[in-house]
Amino acid sequence: MPLPSVWYQRIVFESVGRICFGEGIPVRPVLPIEGFSFRGGELFCESVPLSRLAEVYGTPLYVYSHAEIRRRFQELQAALSAVDHLICYAVKANGNLAVLRALFRMGAGADIVSGGELFRAVRAGVAPDRIVFAGVGKRPDEIELALKTGVRLFNVESLPEAEAIGRVAERLGVRAPVALRVNPDVDPETHAYTTTGKRGTKFGVDLDQALAAYHKMRELSGLEVRGIHAHIGSPVRSLEAYSLALDRLLGLLDRLRRDGFTIDTLNLGGGFPIRYREDEAIFTPEEYAKRLLPRIRESGCTLIVEPGRYLVGNAGVLLTEVIYRKETPEKTFLIVDAAMTELIRPALYGSFHHIYPVCELGSGEERVDVVGPVCETGDFFAKDRMLPRSQAGTLLAIFSAGAYGFVMASNYNARPRPAEVLVMDDRHYLVRERESYEDLIRGERIPEELWDDGREETER
Ligand code: LLP
Repeated sequence: MPLPSVWYQRIVFESVGRICFGEGIPVRPVLPIEGFSFRGGELFCESVPLSRLAEVYGTPLYVYSHAEIRRRFQELQAALSAVDHLICYAVKANGNLAVLRALFRMGAGADIVSGGELFRAVRAGVAPDRIVFAGVGKRPDEIELALKTGVRLFNVESLPEAEAIGRVAERLGVRAPVALRVNPDVDPETHAYTTTGKRGTKFGVDLDQALAAYHKMRELSGLEVRGIHAHIGSPVRSLEAYSLALDRLLGLLDRLRRDGFTIDTLNLGGGFPIRYREDEAIFTPEEYAKRLLPRIRESGCTLIVEPGRYLVGNAGVLLTEVIYRKETPEKTFLIVDAAMTELIRPALYGSFHHIYPVCELGSGEERVDVVGPVCETGDFFAKDRMLPRSQAGTLLAIFSAGAYGFVMASNYNARPRPAEVLVMDDRHYLVRERESYEDLIRGERIPEELWDDGREETER
């Protein structure tokens, strides 16, 4: 293939980082994604062209790179190796069974927040003693299921919840291993909707009430108090916030040990950032380790971390096709076949996601809004974005869609949820079928009497 046009370079520069060039132009790596690369002007997931996946499975389509997930997991494992640790993957980020299986096979545990996530994790073959269970509203049936499964730790978010867990455990004749989720009141400087470790949010127990809560939990015979947990937000771009939270948790740990508690686990939660855009300053796992591990090692505790986005966010793209170009006096809209129903992050948080054609176009650039077909003005992927000029039929990749993409998908506007594909080198697997119209109405029923048109008529 001839070498890239200006657009090719631009795509490389702005979106994908370590690109395989064939002919090789040295371009600064930007988004460090190895699972996706341009070759000869075409975007590949590992060894498979995305255009081929669109042909086989249709669009909109989620595509995940197994190699990218593995690289991230191994990087994090290596960075944390100085302490006894367990990476509990946050299932909420991407709960596809194949993604879960891939991570569990690499050695990950699971951070879950519901009976449903527990069910998924178990189906994907997680070791029960690698599961931690968080969430502010665990119901008795979910607690029972978790106890019967034999999870490693409950991250308890309030005293009433501790009591509920204690009651279920007593009924089952077991003791529930628990950590208290502490709200350390630090500002992760992220979106308000995903800020969780600041006073006034619904999560955890405030630091100044934590000691009393631990003493109360110790009195509950169904509980075995083992750890301290905190999750301050998502994504967290500064190490400062983690460091401050750790200081506060270690202060509490000291005090608890003086009071005779046996605490062997420190869970610092998830929130590790990824680059959605090239100018985003984020920390690396090595920097995290350098800053935090010495203090954790000194504490003698096992470290648990709960990353979701970091492991899968940049390992996924949402593939979509332009249905129409719509030109108005104000704007050019690219109307695509994906919508806020497939990826809600731009609509919900104003999040930025890179978007690029999967095949080099070479026909100039233009400023566009990329929008979906859903009947909401908030249904957009990008506004006033410079993109290569696209036509109806052009395939676009929406990047960094591996985390909080499919899992937040909905059937709004009666849109079937998309298919998901996992790529492993030159192999591609359909890991979730596209929903059908029949799937849309599964479980719905029309009461018999509503079929009686005549009666409605007379009542009127
Ligand atoms: N642990 C706990 C207790 C959490 O609540 C979360 C995320 C995580 C771990 C994983 O966070 P991560 O490492 O993936 O950042 N929908 C939002 C993110 C919500 C995160 C909620 N909790 C988004 O699309 O950005």
